[in-house]
Amino acid sequence: MSSTAQISRDQLSERVRTLRVPLVVAPMFLVSSPKLVVAACKAGAIGSMPTLNAKTPEQLDDWLALVRDELSWQHSAAWPVAPYALNVLMHQSNARLPHDLEAVRKHRPPIVIASVGRPDEVVDIVHEYGGLVLADVGSLKHAKRAADSGVDGLVLLCAGAGGQTGRLNPFAFVEATRRFFSGLIAVAGGITHGRHLAALQRLGADLGYSGTSFIATPESLATDDYKKALLGSDIDDVWDTDAISGIPANVLRATLTSLGLQPETRWVRTAQSNYDWSNIRWRPDLYSAGHGVGEVRAEEGCATIIGRFSEQYKASSLAGSTS
Ligand SMILES: Cc1cc2nc3c(=O)[nH]c(=O)nc-3n(C[C@H](O)[C@H](O)[C@H](O)COP(=O)(O)O)c2cc1C
Repeated sequence: MSSTAQISRDQLSERVRTLRVPLVVAPMFLVSSPKLVVAACKAGAIGSMPTLNAKTPEQLDDWLALVRDELSWQHSAAWPVAPYALNVLMHQSNARLPHDLEAVRKHRPPIVIASVGRPDEVVDIVHEYGGLVLADVGSLKHAKRAADSGVDGLVLLCAGAGGQTGRLNPFAFVEATRRFFSGLIAVAGGITHGRHLAALQRLGADLGYSGTSFIATPESLATDDYKKALLGSDIDDVWDTDAISGIPANVLRATLTSLGLQPETRWVRTAQSNYDWSNIRWRPDLYSAGHGVGEVRAEEGCATIIGRFSEQYKASSLAGSTS
């Protein structure tokens, strides 16, 4: 730990609100790596990763030590890099939850993103050391519940997001959430351009939350076949299905096909008897992507993509302020 002074949670929030590029490189199962986290934060955006990408609690411990050393992230007034976020699956199906919470206590990630489940337990732990908790939510009911748990921010999972997607329209969801929540708001779903970040801020949100844009990077853990599949895909190739986890997720059409499904048969909870879904799980050969997939044209480094977001954001913000 550094000898620099601790800053308050309010200061950390303010730091997040005033990032050079108001962007979270979103956590992605089997994709985000410590290298991606470090590259994102050094380029000025919030980097993140799910705890479960580490194969064991011991590996997670090593990864978090590496991230801390690389970023020399501290609650520092100097702010050399953007803060990073650790994504914890709060659902009971996460058998490693006790280890994950232990890792949070030990490594004190400046931001924890709580997914799928009540954030209460992690809020207590993170607030004790002065960090922030964001909870991802797909409905107003869940947004209100998370806000009642005392989270510092909400990630609104909107229609068109990669991974487990929301179904709500971002304009309406931000509006409805701002009626009762004054904390940080990040918006997920098809965020691929700096002007999207400027537009989100005009809507009343603070941050864009982008995953698909960062799958085809050298820092990601995605296979070459996955990256290739992304580069050849467009918005019409993306379909939502509950076949993988029971919760609607966006996948490429080729993934539907490899599961023995078609767009017409992609909802399996109501039609399970039509085929064998016993093998359906998240696997490295299941390719998830959001509606923004068509904007991914080449494999590029994380810093290059964030640099572009940043330039576009600056240009859009200036254009907005003079009109
Ligand atoms: C391959 C993949 C894996 C994902 N895994 C996770 C995860 O483990 N935890 C999580 O909170 N979100 C996960 N997500 C969702 C992302 O964090 C984020 O919400 C989403 O990528 C944003 O939409 P976009 O892909 O349109 O940018 C995943 C998304 C993708 C594409």
